[in-house]
Amino acid sequence: MKILVVGSGGREHAMVWALARSPRKPMLYSAPGNAGIESLATCMPIKADDIAGLKAFVQAEKIDMTVVGPEAPLALGIVDEFRTSRLKIFGPTKGAARIEASKVFSKEVMASARILTARAQSFDRVASALAYLDQHELPVVVKADGLAQGKGVVVATTREEARQAVRDSMEHAVFGQAGRRVLIEQFLDGEELTIMAFTDGRTVVPMLPAQDHKRLGDGDAGPNTGGMGAYCPAPLATVALSEGVTKQVLYPAVESLSRMGCPFQGVLYAGLMVVKGIPYVLEFNARMGDPETQVILPLLKTDLLEVIEAVVEHRLDQLTVDWHNETAVCVVMTSGGYPGAYTTGLPIHGLPAATNRGAMVFHAGTRRAGSEVVTAGGRVLGITGCGKTLAEAQAEAYRVTRTISFEGAHYRTDIAHRAFARHA
Ligand code: AMP
Ligand code: GLY
Repeated sequence: MKILVVGSGGREHAMVWALARSPRKPMLYSAPGNAGIESLATCMPIKADDIAGLKAFVQAEKIDMTVVGPEAPLALGIVDEFRTSRLKIFGPTKGAARIEASKVFSKEVMASARILTARAQSFDRVASALAYLDQHELPVVVKADGLAQGKGVVVATTREEARQAVRDSMEHAVFGQAGRRVLIEQFLDGEELTIMAFTDGRTVVPMLPAQDHKRLGDGDAGPNTGGMGAYCPAPLATVALSEGVTKQVLYPAVESLSRMGCPFQGVLYAGLMVVKGIPYVLEFNARMGDPETQVILPLLKTDLLEVIEAVVEHRLDQLTVDWHNETAVCVVMTSGGYPGAYTTGLPIHGLPAATNRGAMVFHAGTRRAGSEVVTAGGRVLGITGCGKTLAEAQAEAYRVTRTISFEGAHYRTDIAHRAFARHA
């Protein structure tokens, strides 16, 4: 069996790694992939959003299944395009992926499904947005409607900051078309939690709960990033809370999308804010999270390939998905300067030859340059440690992290701190 994984980040390396462990020994391909994925899959220099290029490759190479990592190709309709040509593909259609690609649409789904979320209003005229802001309590959250690579959200503590965010998005078009409409949203004060689920459009199978660390520095200080680390399972998600999310968030969202004529297949990601024990949805994503995938897939006991096939063939109700009774912690190493400007092409030292379950080095922004592996992005590596306890997993992740270096490398030293605080 031949499988193509689309994408080039740490999430895709973790997906390829999990598929490589399948007892069915699939032949793996990735487009475009990275220097870590290369050791497990044949990498093709086709961009993740080059749908025509990907389709031509899949047809020429007779790929049996395509698995989509990032949101951009989903929002462009890769799934619709592949299905039209009877090619098997894992992920939601363009219509269903709007739950991530349009925050306004996502709020419509939540309203129709009676899902708890922050109060919000959408605007497509600057003047009305600014007038509304004048009345709004602080802090206030300003969000670009469309995909903005995780940069479209401003949590403003002053009215001037909020007004600036509206003008940047709507007048100065810093996010292009994606920011022509904005959402002005109530600020929720709580603790964030990620719960993702596999779904075939009818059955929902939640994954273990995880927590991301969005801020650059220790103690959750500094600017927002694409994610500096994660751990799983997150003790914030008690059994009752997780069951509540399945019944009151995930199932209603999936059912609502079906009723709206765009059934969702693939991974539905709920980004939650837990306020006094009650989960509110901050956002939905139409794909797996990064770096959450790097802590969740190492704990998945069931063959990922079996799960993917069950989703694509609409028989998820017939599959039992099992998890290892362990904990995983992922530490992300970034380029100096990230999330601002940074240099690439710096040699990475101390990379282990192979990754085994226990301590895995997932590549994110890397590429091969001759005999060396060099940096090629803001987030460079994600090092995942597994253990019986959170302390063991964390120690393992940091033990390996300290053996790897490149000029200007940065990582947080407190990943999982909230879970430890909860235990204490
Ligand atoms: P989003 O892309 O919607 O997940 O927003 C990015 C980040 O902004 C989230 O992970 C939160 O940290 C923060 N955020 C978004 N919406 C809210 C909100 N309503 N209240 C507080 N923080 C928020
Ligand atoms: N970790 C956040 C995301 O993948 O969107």
